[in-house]
Amino acid sequence: AAARAFNIVVLPGDGVGPEVALAAQRVLTCIGDIYGHRFDFTEHLIGGAAIDAVGESLPEETKAACIASDAVLLGAVGGPKWDGAPVRPEQGLLAIRKAMGLYANLRPLQVSPVLAHRSPLKKEIVEGVDLIVFRELTSGVYFGERTRTETSASDLCVYTVEEIERVARAAFQAAEQRRGKVTSVDKANVMETSRLWREVVTRIHAEEYPQITLEHALVDSMAMHLIRKPRDYDVILTENMFGDILSDEISVLGGSIGLLPSASLGANGPGLFEPIHGSAPDIAGQDLANPVGMVLSAAMMLRHSFQLEDEADSIEAAVAAVLASGAVTADLGGALGTVSATRAIVDAIRAIH
Ligand code: NAI
Ligand code: MG
Repeated sequence: AAARAFNIVVLPGDGVGPEVALAAQRVLTCIGDIYGHRFDFTEHLIGGAAIDAVGESLPEETKAACIASDAVLLGAVGGPKWDGAPVRPEQGLLAIRKAMGLYANLRPLQVSPVLAHRSPLKKEIVEGVDLIVFRELTSGVYFGERTRTETSASDLCVYTVEEIERVARAAFQAAEQRRGKVTSVDKANVMETSRLWREVVTRIHAEEYPQITLEHALVDSMAMHLIRKPRDYDVILTENMFGDILSDEISVLGGSIGLLPSASLGANGPGLFEPIHGSAPDIAGQDLANPVGMVLSAAMMLRHSFQLEDEADSIEAAVAAVLASGAVTADLGGALGTVSATRAIVDAIRAIH
């Protein structure tokens, strides 16, 4: 592919965020050297770091830089230091997702043989799992009107046809590149928003993606099937709150939370890429954080925002080789720190080329 230049905003955030964000930059710089691309990184404030510096969790200047970028890499936000503070670090995260119009949150999970024995589930159940969750991220009950009186409270769940259509299309398109199956999760036996969800997904499937296999599942039985037969799933499509809950359930199948990446994508603008873990205050600043979740998030950025498939494949192959070799951090029972684990990934990328 032709050499290109990319303007990447890095939001290191709090706790282990800066440590893993640096790891991703090192890996991307190596990819840039090999393939002849230029990755320009510009750091901006978010979360607790921004609260300490300027008194708000998402400064205007950060928001503008993200919107003007080619893509955003985020470490993590939050920590006990800001518990009970009037402004919370996590508000910055919700605000940037909304400001960038990131309506689809993607969380892939692959369980290789070397990781399967670290799972709390039996190796025979999880080995070979290869799925991706598409969670709607900017609507539903998390964004509906809230009320509170002395004796009652309410949270309103609203979905429009258009909000369902766009995330459904993203999931069907992903299934075309994978094993060709979408499982749409709802609660259509009870909720009206779920009945609309099921109708719209069924129509988009029939009109635009008839070659994909579509199945519908109720969220409660899905929670059960995910731990009994996780290998049955390819693309899982769901609304905001169900996706929040199911993706945490799925995250434990594979061994360590430090391994898992995510991508949040909007219509045409830049995407945001972050590991699924938080700021891990218990291990922050000690060179203990596993950089893999952040590094694989950078690979998702190359694939989804920049269409650099070979480059993304290189990172993923290098990570797989390093995990298989046992050159891993303490959360996986290894002896490496963040810096040396990152170096092992960089060396593995060079070894492939
Ligand atoms: P957490 O994900 O930060 O940590 C949970 C456990 O996993 C801890 O024992 C931690 O040491 C470990 N862990 C996390 N990332 C790791 C890594 N890369 N390598 C090795 N071990 C790792 O979740 P927790 O403790 O519930 O939240 C801590 C803070 O992070 C809170 O303030 C929370 O609000 C915030 N948070 C932020 C998120 C984000 O920025 N997207 C997501 C989740 C939580
Ligand atoms: Mg969650």
